[in-house]
Amino acid sequence: MDTHYPSEYTRWWVEFYYQKFQVNEYVLIPRFETEDLVRETIKMAENTPFDTLIDVGTGSGIIPISILTKVAIEQSFGLDISPKALEVAKTNAENIGVKNIEFLISDLLSIFLSPTSVTFGKNILITANLPYIKDGDWENMSEDTQHEPKIALFGGSETGFELYEKLFIQIPDFLEKHRPKRLTILTEMGEDQEEIATSTLESLTQKLEENGRKINFSFFADCFGIRRFMKIEIL
Ligand SMILES: C[S@@+](CC[C@H](N)C(=O)[O-])C[C@H]1O[C@@H](n2cnc3c(N)ncnc32)[C@H](O)[C@@H]1O
Repeated sequence: MDTHYPSEYTRWWVEFYYQKFQVNEYVLIPRFETEDLVRETIKMAENTPFDTLIDVGTGSGIIPISILTKVAIEQSFGLDISPKALEVAKTNAENIGVKNIEFLISDLLSIFLSPTSVTFGKNILITANLPYIKDGDWENMSEDTQHEPKIALFGGSETGFELYEKLFIQIPDFLEKHRPKRLTILTEMGEDQEEIATSTLESLTQKLEENGRKINFSFFADCFGIRRFMKIEIL
């Protein structure tokens, strides 16, 4: 018997942000720290309401489902490149009773950059906990993690931050196509990625300011004081 096989995959559920979520080998086991991203997002949404929520790399759906149990957002989407993960997310939304969310297969935001009949609200919120570990970098990972889907863990061969770089490259086109009044992005990253995140976001800032947009970005810490979240506001 493999003593490192995660118990969450044998009992098929995990608790996240006061709710029980189903998990299986096709999804990442939700991490405790991600609750801090959810908490901060809910706080923001209570102060400045959003019309549309898009969660990129939704996995088991924990982020948007947890948010939607606390704040009303009219239109919501969970996107993932893995159809098997989306099946888990759909089951979780049904079990928890969150109805106003659609789960769609998409490479990052691609589905909303190609011709689509979807019309978004004026205030859009994007959340993401994308894979951010450097490919094959098992050194600092527990043996249990080897049973989790690689597509949920590894973000690229150079830094691990590559998927976020691709996501931020999509943002100018997303703004151009959907023209929100306000776009807010909250994401989780690796604790050693603030430098690369800053330079990526500085490039995005330059591009957006050329197009007449205003952008602010900052980082915030989890409950252990580790800065692992990005907050980006685009007007
Ligand atoms: C780190 S897991 C996070 C899952 C969930 N959001 C959570 O916090 O537990 C990353 C998720 O991103 C998905 N993913 C990987 N590459 C993707 C891509 N190019 N486009 C969309 N989703 C992707 C994976 O399938 C996985 O479900």
